[in-house]
Amino acid sequence: MSGLSFHPAGPADGFAEGSITHLEIEGREIGLYLVGGTFYAIGDICTHMRARLSDGYLTGTVIECPLHFGRFDITTGKAVSAPCKADVAAYPVRIANGMVEVGLDSPETA
Ligand code: FES
Repeated sequence: MSGLSFHPAGPADGFAEGSITHLEIEGREIGLYLVGGTFYAIGDICTHMRARLSDGYLTGTVIECPLHFGRFDITTGKAVSAPCKADVAAYPVRIANGMVEVGLDSPETA
């Protein structure tokens, strides 16, 4: 059985529109984005050669890797241009009591 656990990323009013924030939560590297008033969280390590996507360039809801310019859709984690083929994870984001929280699968042994 597995469940989702939410982890605080910071106060919701502490992020600027268009901001990109690198997070490390439970050993996972995650990029948190605020675009059009909505937060998105995706895996932050490029599936091509492991560059950090949060060091890249955001255009709308597409992040371009700083190393070889592959691109990912931040709303889904989907790789949308070469040389990237494999998607990165997409994580649910919620706001609870004014805090941005990122949801991670937490495997449980039942
Ligand atoms: S490391 Fe990201 S495109 Fe090559």
